[in-house]
Amino acid sequence: MKKILIMVVCAALAGCCKLSCEKKVTKKDLEGEVKEAILLVAFGTSEKSAQVSFTNIARLAAKRFKGAEIQWAYTSHIIRKKLAKQGQIILSPVEAIDKLIAEGYNKLTIQSLHTIPGAEFDDLCKVAESYKDRVIISIGQPLVANYANLDRVVDLMLEQAPKERKADEAIIFMGHGTHHYANLIDVAFQALLNDKDKNSFIGTVEGNPTLDDIIKKCKANNIKKAYLIPFMSVAGDHAKNDMASDEDDSWKSILKKNGITAIPILKGTAENDKIVDVWLDNCAEALKGKSNH
Ligand code: CO
Repeated sequence: MKKILIMVVCAALAGCCKLSCEKKVTKKDLEGEVKEAILLVAFGTSEKSAQVSFTNIARLAAKRFKGAEIQWAYTSHIIRKKLAKQGQIILSPVEAIDKLIAEGYNKLTIQSLHTIPGAEFDDLCKVAESYKDRVIISIGQPLVANYANLDRVVDLMLEQAPKERKADEAIIFMGHGTHHYANLIDVAFQALLNDKDKNSFIGTVEGNPTLDDIIKKCKANNIKKAYLIPFMSVAGDHAKNDMASDEDDSWKSILKKNGITAIPILKGTAENDKIVDVWLDNCAEALKGKSNH
């Protein structure tokens, strides 16, 4: 029953983008030489140490799609602005697409490096939609947008726990969460975790489940120690400050006040090659012009 519910949720979430992301290609688009490029689109980060996640994706994408033109863009306006002040110019999706078109690329595969298909991904789909009459354009799904990927990613996240972790110690993942209905994926994530490892939990910074939900479950399971791991592509501001810092309101501090010693592991999901493979598999599907939901 739980599995069916999760599948229904994922199907509903994927369905919305299916309408807007599958592009009709006109004959005119196919005339002449096809010049192809991949556009990798992340939320972005201004934390220097978190850049390691994107470096890893760039390395693995170059290896997987040998010889392909790969361009980057960040969806976060705030982060682009912050980086520009430091002299680092990162393009927005629109700017990157315009640049590729100006360079003569007429077949674009946009790969979302977001974790769930939330508001940022919706906006990206709208951008892609607005170019469909000018170029052949397809879009790859974020990390988790269907049941198969959810199941695969939950397993990979559990593998992130350190070897010394004992069964009565919890693994707590920090997801971002959102007001968007894609937040239901985080809830589905928790349902799968329950089945696979009863002392593993996911909470979110800006959605459900919450840290309070986790604390209740930890108390019920008599947990005294937990490993904190971000479920975000980068170990950036949220992971460093909201999760792992000594500030009063960090997850580490709140857990401590509740009798749970928390050990943060500051590693973004995109630092893990096997998790990056999930994004790149989604990209490979989009390159084939296939929608993978
Ligand atoms: Co945030």
